[in-house]
Amino acid sequence: MHKRLNLLILLVTQVVLGYSLPSSAIPTQGSQMMAAGPSPTLIEAVQDISGAGGNVVDAAVSAALTLAVTAPYYAALGGGGFSLIKMGGEVQALDFREVAPLATDPHFYKDRSKTSSTHGGAAVGVPGVPAGLWALHQKYGKLPWKRLFKVPLRMAMEGFRVSGEWAQETKDELNNFNSAGKKFLSGKGGAALRAGEILKQSALAKALVLLRDNGEKGFYSGAVAEDIVKSVKDTDGVMSLKDLSSYKVRWLTPLETKFADYQIYLMPPPSSGGVVIKTSLKLVEMLEVNKRKPLSVEELHLLGEVLSRSFRGRAMLGDPDFTKNPIETLTSDKYLNDLARSIKVSKTSQLEPLKENFKESSETTHFSIMDKNGNAVAFTVTLNGGYGSRVVSEKFGIALNNEMDDFTTRPGEPNQFGLIQGSGNFVEPGKRPLSSMSPTIITKKGKTVATLGAPGGPRIISSVFQTMYRFLANGFDIDESIQAGRVHHQFLPNTLFVEERRLTPETLMGLKKLGHKIENGRVGKVYGVTLGEDGVLDAAFDSRGEGAAGGI
Ligand code: DON
Repeated sequence: MHKRLNLLILLVTQVVLGYSLPSSAIPTQGSQMMAAGPSPTLIEAVQDISGAGGNVVDAAVSAALTLAVTAPYYAALGGGGFSLIKMGGEVQALDFREVAPLATDPHFYKDRSKTSSTHGGAAVGVPGVPAGLWALHQKYGKLPWKRLFKVPLRMAMEGFRVSGEWAQETKDELNNFNSAGKKFLSGKGGAALRAGEILKQSALAKALVLLRDNGEKGFYSGAVAEDIVKSVKDTDGVMSLKDLSSYKVRWLTPLETKFADYQIYLMPPPSSGGVVIKTSLKLVEMLEVNKRKPLSVEELHLLGEVLSRSFRGRAMLGDPDFTKNPIETLTSDKYLNDLARSIKVSKTSQLEPLKENFKESSETTHFSIMDKNGNAVAFTVTLNGGYGSRVVSEKFGIALNNEMDDFTTRPGEPNQFGLIQGSGNFVEPGKRPLSSMSPTIITKKGKTVATLGAPGGPRIISSVFQTMYRFLANGFDIDESIQAGRVHHQFLPNTLFVEERRLTPETLMGLKKLGHKIENGRVGKVYGVTLGEDGVLDAAFDSRGEGAAGGI
């Protein structure tokens, strides 16, 4: 009955309002704890933990460990990430991003090859995932740490059936891996595994057992740390045992903003996501974009102009321990008024880049989990590129990130996401590179309403922003909000990236007529969970890729 009613509403919106939504499913519903993420394997972990009486943080830790086994191209233990956590009334941000090794400096890449920040040992930042999971559990965990390893260890030891995405991602990199990558991630005779075949990872299981039995020390010292250092050094990197033993997570205060009656909690620097999304939300309110028809030419045009202006400030940001971030200026009324005034409904226009003296004085994933009481975890994890540096540790088979490429490695030159970055983001020992990852939690009158996030480099920001906008301003449900066509603008290049398959030819033509240089482009894959006033939890994953939603 519920399904029929939703379909009827969909039909009515299409006919009466004159816009069409892509084929949307009904969000997957539950009443205890629900999750959405990139793989059914993480849903299995969440169901196992919630069934055993664990809380959302226990579920998130077990889900992340499971993805480290089943989707190592973006979620391996050798990566890093951010998480926003709401337990009871408190919202906290955890930064477990990779840091630059102590032997690096701002000129580290000057005399190295162009690919050295993306491929090989010099691309690897000190991993943060194991320390992040340990810190999450220490602060909020309910079940014993060891219990969280049941599903991931089974999948590592007994094997799991590789998905289409796993098969494609891995086949693409087989010739780029170091020898350990080829050994651990291929089938018989080094052939690429096909979707549905089983992969067992007994070496990785041993690393998981060390982490399970010794806590974070089991990764940052001893056999695993030695394996990582050797593997990085063997591939021209500079990581030391001291880099690993001195790695520390940071608990940060989330960046907050209001949008209508909602309180939005965002990731602060070293993510640029919170600042750019906050700027965008303020601008859409000032311009009253919600009065435009959803997905119409003028609405998408305005969203593109808003994103371009919000992204302009990104180049001013960096790790707050190393650079003073001009957040107050970037979100001040004067600055926002000037930006809003520069936006015209009739034509696109581009501003000059900000001056550096303005300062006052392909791979990632995300999952969202929420329970019936509104406790929530938004968890974004990455190796940066697919399989990161393509270096896999020799003994334990741990894929290592290439997060160093998120620094300003060569001033003035775009990085792998086309981002031209500022001096606040130069490489410095012990520093975290600027990120776009944007785990987000939304509340209304203190009650949790939604948790969401996405992979996609800078497209994370535009994807999370537009999904949130559709949900909060247009009243779409979480699935409709995720599946709706999106645009992306990151200021430089001055191009409006559009989803050709999800927007009509008339819309694309209309945007061109307003002067936009248009290019078909990918957007981030969003995973979100919402909690309705009726107590029903809705979970939805992005149909742009593999994914799953479920729980109990
Ligand atoms: O932290 C960042 O912004 C990037 N390392 C994220 C990379 C990413 O999302 C790639 N995913 N498709």
